[in-house]
Amino acid sequence: MTSTEKDRVVIFDTTLRDGEQSPGATMTHDEKLEIAELLDDMGVDIIEAGFPIASEGDFRAVSEIAQRSKNAVICGLARAQLPDIDRCWEAVRNAAKPRIHTFIGTSPLHRAIPNLTQDEMAERIEQTVTHARNLCDNVQWSPMDATRTEWDYLCRVVEIAIKAGATTINIPDTVGYTAPVESADLIRRLIETVSGADDVVFATHCHNDLGMATANALAAVQGGARQIECTINGLGERAGNTALEEVVMALKVRGDIMPYTTGIDTKKIMHISRRVATVSGFPVQFNKAIVGKNAFAHESGIHQDGMLKNAETFEIMRPEDVGIAGTSLPLGKHSGRAALRAKLRELGVEVGDNQLKDIFVRFKDLADRKKEVFDDDILALVTATTEGDDALQLVNLKVVCGTGGPAEATLEMEIHGEDMSAVSEGDGPVDATFKAIRMLHPNKARLQLYQVNAVTEGTDAQATVSVRLEEDGMIATGQSADTDTVVASAKAYIHALNRLIVRRGKTGKDVKEISYRDVT
Ligand code: KIV
Ligand code: ZN
Repeated sequence: MTSTEKDRVVIFDTTLRDGEQSPGATMTHDEKLEIAELLDDMGVDIIEAGFPIASEGDFRAVSEIAQRSKNAVICGLARAQLPDIDRCWEAVRNAAKPRIHTFIGTSPLHRAIPNLTQDEMAERIEQTVTHARNLCDNVQWSPMDATRTEWDYLCRVVEIAIKAGATTINIPDTVGYTAPVESADLIRRLIETVSGADDVVFATHCHNDLGMATANALAAVQGGARQIECTINGLGERAGNTALEEVVMALKVRGDIMPYTTGIDTKKIMHISRRVATVSGFPVQFNKAIVGKNAFAHESGIHQDGMLKNAETFEIMRPEDVGIAGTSLPLGKHSGRAALRAKLRELGVEVGDNQLKDIFVRFKDLADRKKEVFDDDILALVTATTEGDDALQLVNLKVVCGTGGPAEATLEMEIHGEDMSAVSEGDGPVDATFKAIRMLHPNKARLQLYQVNAVTEGTDAQATVSVRLEEDGMIATGQSADTDTVVASAKAYIHALNRLIVRRGKTGKDVKEISYRDVT
């Protein structure tokens, strides 16, 4: 089936209104302007820029976005009250293409709040939509909580809104209660039943309380809706809204069963997703569809092997299509030999089959102990397989520290295959440990950098420690991670010393003759 203009689905983005309503997700004025510009540039048809009566700040943001808009329709939200609608119009009127969006809760639960009977509410809808239409040619009306509104009453109020001049009828699933079959059916039956339905656009606005927002929105399109309301990263009240990137990519990838087009430039998706995550303070979960860090990452051996042979084996869309530079094959404990060889090639290292076997064994051992294996780690493994085992190994470490005096480290190490131990005091546990290491392996390397980062949250977080040493112009770095910061520090320091030993070996330098007294 080919797409026709009738099958164009309009994308209505409400990141700046519904998205900004997520608790804690407020954006500054300038951030809102920036996001609006990005939305306009990516081809969003309608931008719901805010709720002008809600605050002076919202009013200013909607007004300025309206003035700056290029292609998109700029919409403001208003309750079913005349002052709301007037304020909304004041904010959007300077847009090249303004829209007023007015709404009222029509379900029994929502009618109970203003304590209106069905007839009283019907009258209010007639009056407010007429008022909005007298101000603006483009009026959207929403029966909030439509999916829990009595069927007969829903038909009645939708018909009233159309007669009063609404040009778009939005059917919100305000509490994320509907399911795909029901969502499609509701729109289909409304279009079949309500008089005047053919003259307006039906929209779908879904929340994600049961994780079905995107599926419900797409089902509504199959039922006849031609406007999808959504937000970047699915930001929104509670569990959020339909995610723009999900519906747009689903329509693009599954055009065979959903032959509808949008005007979105999908290559801009990743950039705007990152900006919204940053300015809203809502990070994107790693496994989120399309925009999550892992959406185009493959770690398991079978997957990496397949990806290296043909990307389509495990990817249904190209990362470049959503603005990601490429697939990533992070190396971890599930990675296979093919991915390791590919990574080595990327690092400019060619190895024979036997050496690869050897590196692979060491790599698996390291990956079991380390969350992420970095390029530097891989290079160190290559060096170790050519140079032999690490000269220095940590065997045991015990540290006593606290408020009562200097810290004391008792250290056991294997040095060139020989077990050695030392006890040292220091100004804190790390200082005591490093001094003990230098007692067992005297060296004149200068500590240029000592840095600790927490990888995860909580008091049991893994600490990643980086150490950089300099000796006679030679630099060696070491990293390690452990839930114990002092152990991670010791390992990182020893790691750097091992690299220094390898480098010294290569340059013919040897400092074994330096005595313990020289360094303490
Ligand atoms: O979820 C909802 O019902 C809304 C309306 C204001 C459209 O956001
Ligand atoms: Zn909503």
